[in-house]
Parts: sequence; structure tokens; C-alpha cells
Amino acid sequence: IESMLGQGPLSGRRVLVTSGPTHEPIDPVRYIANRSSGAQGAALAGALAELGAEVIFVTGPATVPPPAGVRVVAVESARDMEQAVGAALPVDAAVFAAAVADWRVSGAATRKIKKSREGLPTLELAENPDILAGVAQMQTGRPRLVVGFAAETDDMVAHATAKRARKGCDWIVANDVSTETGIMGGTENAVTLITGEGAESWPRMTKTEVARRLAERIARALG
Ligand code: CTP
Ligand code: CA
Repeated sequence: IESMLGQGPLSGRRVLVTSGPTHEPIDPVRYIANRSSGAQGAALAGALAELGAEVIFVTGPATVPPPAGVRVVAVESARDMEQAVGAALPVDAAVFAAAVADWRVSGAATRKIKKSREGLPTLELAENPDILAGVAQMQTGRPRLVVGFAAETDDMVAHATAKRARKGCDWIVANDVSTETGIMGGTENAVTLITGEGAESWPRMTKTEVARRLAERIARALG
């Protein structure tokens, strides 16, 4: 309702959210993907829109549909996502919730690879651009607030704290994606927010509630 009236603490603010997995083509019919459902990114984009923000939602092929009230930019690969992010700038805040594939197949085949060829095919990989780091380290036109996510299975806080420093973002939302947590693909999340002030562990709650709390924090940070 607030967004429909153009009110709310984020009215007049432009916020970019990346979400979902990326698909990296092997050939025209096959790809490399990951288990991200896009649920946390979609919930966050929805919560930001509810606080009145103009949300540009750059999403890979997610299983969860995009929320109402956001501008959806649908992409496939990491390199497509990087381009769409560049086109969405400038923004007041950028949140990188996407599970971007770290590698793509270098020189993906333009024709379907056939089984009949000699021996097994081998896939040569190339590293994808780090979209978050690219935006966090912009010299001019950097969003005022740059937020990354960190999906970890071990030593979560240590890895996420190092990641925040390495990438140059303001905050990292760390989550434990060990399979036994059921977080990846599930409806709940247990996150630790890492800022310049340190690490803050939030209790386990629904992804919708995590999204609401994060959106409120973002609104407070933008003032
Ligand atoms: N990210 C990105 N572009 C990439 C890889 C990651 O924008 N090519 C962003 C993600 O959206 C997330 C953050 O960087 O906000 C951290 O992603 P993560 O996969 O946890 O970190 P990596 O740097 O890829 O390290 P690793 O997978 O080795 O832990
Ligand atoms: Ca990664």
C-alpha cells in the first residue's frame, strides 16, 4: 500500500537487486547451473518495493517468481547479468543476492555436441566476472550502499568477513548452505549480517522475515 501511494522510507530511492542462479551454456541444449531458487532475492526485492523503493530486479532463471511492484530484467548467464547490472546503474543501493556461476564453459559449442564423436567431451572452464566486486570497487558512481551475500558451508563468519574485505562491499549477508540446514531451496534462512562494525547473527526465520528486516536496515542506512 505504501508503494502504491509512492510513500514509505525508500520512496524516491533506486535499488538494484540481483537474484537467482545463472545458466552457463555448454551447447544450445545444455548448461551448468546451481541450486539457487531465487527465493531470498525475490523476497528482498518485494520488501524493498513495499518500503517504496524503485526496484530493478535482475534475475537469472529462478524457480520462484519475481515479486509484484519491481522492474524485472531476466537474464541467463553471468555475463548477461553483468551487462544488465551495468545498464541499471546508477542506483542508491545495490544488493547482490544472485548465486552467480563462478565459471562458464569457454567457447560454448554453437551446435549440439553429439555422443557419436570420438571419446568423451571435455569442458574447459573460464572464470566469470565478479559482478559484486566490480560495482563495489567503482571509482565514480558507486552506489552508496553495496551489499553482497555469502553462501558458505564451513567457517561461515571468517570466510564471509574475508569476502567483505576482498570485494570491497559495505555489508555481507552470510548464510550457511550446508545441505543439512535445508536453506538452499527452503523457505527459511539463518543469516549473519557482517558490516564494518562486526558480525550480527540473526535467529533462524522465514526468508520473508529476513527480507523485511534487511529492507528496513537498508532504509535506515540510506537515511
Ligand atoms: N558474486 C557476483 N559475481 C560473481 C560471483 C559472486 O556478483 N561472479 C556475488 C554474489 O552475488 C554474492 C557474492 O558475490 O553476493 C559472494 O558470492 P559467493 O559465491 O559466496 O563468493 P565468491 O567470491 O564467488 O567465492 P566462493 O564461491 O569461492 O566462496
Ligand atoms: Ca561463488
